[in-house]
Amino acid sequence: MHSVVLIPGDGIGPEVTREVVRILEAADAPISWSEARAGIAALNAGEEVLPAQTLRAIERSGLGLKGPCTTPVGTGFASVNVQLRKRLNLYAAVRPVRSLEGVPTRFDGVDLIIIRENTEGLYSGAENRVTDDVVISMKVATESACERIAHWAFRYATQRERKKLAVFHKANIMKMSDGIFIAAAKRVHARDYPNIHYQEMIIDAGCMKLVQDPTQFDMLLLENLYGDVVSDLAAGLVGGLGVVPGANFGDEYAIFEAVHGSAPDIAGKDVANPLALLMSGVMLLNHIARERSDERAAASAERIKTAYNQALRDGCKTRDLGGELGTAAFASAVIERLG
Ligand code: NAI
Repeated sequence: MHSVVLIPGDGIGPEVTREVVRILEAADAPISWSEARAGIAALNAGEEVLPAQTLRAIERSGLGLKGPCTTPVGTGFASVNVQLRKRLNLYAAVRPVRSLEGVPTRFDGVDLIIIRENTEGLYSGAENRVTDDVVISMKVATESACERIAHWAFRYATQRERKKLAVFHKANIMKMSDGIFIAAAKRVHARDYPNIHYQEMIIDAGCMKLVQDPTQFDMLLLENLYGDVVSDLAAGLVGGLGVVPGANFGDEYAIFEAVHGSAPDIAGKDVANPLALLMSGVMLLNHIARERSDERAAASAERIKTAYNQALRDGCKTRDLGGELGTAAFASAVIERLG
């Protein structure tokens, strides 16, 4: 059994994590869970927003499955999600954006991997009030972090036999920060991965091309903020935030979480789609299978994937996908189809 820290999180987090754990257990996933708190849930329990014991638990097991955590807008504490990524040095976010057979959208055959740098850029949180009416937000880019994410992305592309990687940037305006991001990608490509087709695109034109025909892209590499925004945009191309999973990787630890947030507008109503977190759970199992050569993890990942695809083909869907099933009913539909 592999020990995994489960962070239910806030808003729809507890509802979707509960159902995902139920499915993983029904699919014989070789995981033993230990629950930890973060975000509003931790504050409500009288703890720090990111308790030290939560960090220690992840450091011990190396793996986490995390529900979304709420961050106050315009005031209040710094994002727990950003803090977790920084404290554990989870520098590479991976977001696979794929068309699903039972979820018709404007485009078929979307199969895009988004790699987001997770530790720098405007997420430095370094903001200063210069005068009463002027504030400055610092965009941080270091050559070492830009090289590190470029290596990670090209290595990932090679391992997954991906053919093309495009960097979206705005180095025409942010000549220095985005400048070193693309320079690092270009250098790493030329030196170590010349067989992968490499392209640079100014992000505004890149977004236009992405919504015109996402199938022309294979992998995207973006700095932190662009990666955040483009992930949600791309989710909209394949059915929305209910169907896009994610993972945050460092050299030592990995935390798997959906792209979506805590969705306070639908929390507690049994309407949230648990699929994005379930797919993140499948990524977790595949990671365990690959890194720890565990065939049972690979088999249970495959069973879950087959089952949710069958459920969608059979028309079992939550409200965000045009269906009528609640969170728990959709999870039960997946469990019924586990081979
Ligand atoms: P959101 O992703 O929570 O919701 C955006 C829209 O998508 C809402 O209409 C919501 O109902 C819908 N939605 C999201 N997930 C869904 C699901 N699984 N099933 C069905 N519908 C779903 O983004 P929003 O509203 O901008 O942020 C809410 C909170 O979440 C904020 O405090 C934000 O900081 C936080 N957040 C946390 C993230 C994380 O923990 N990794 C990521 C993004 C946002």
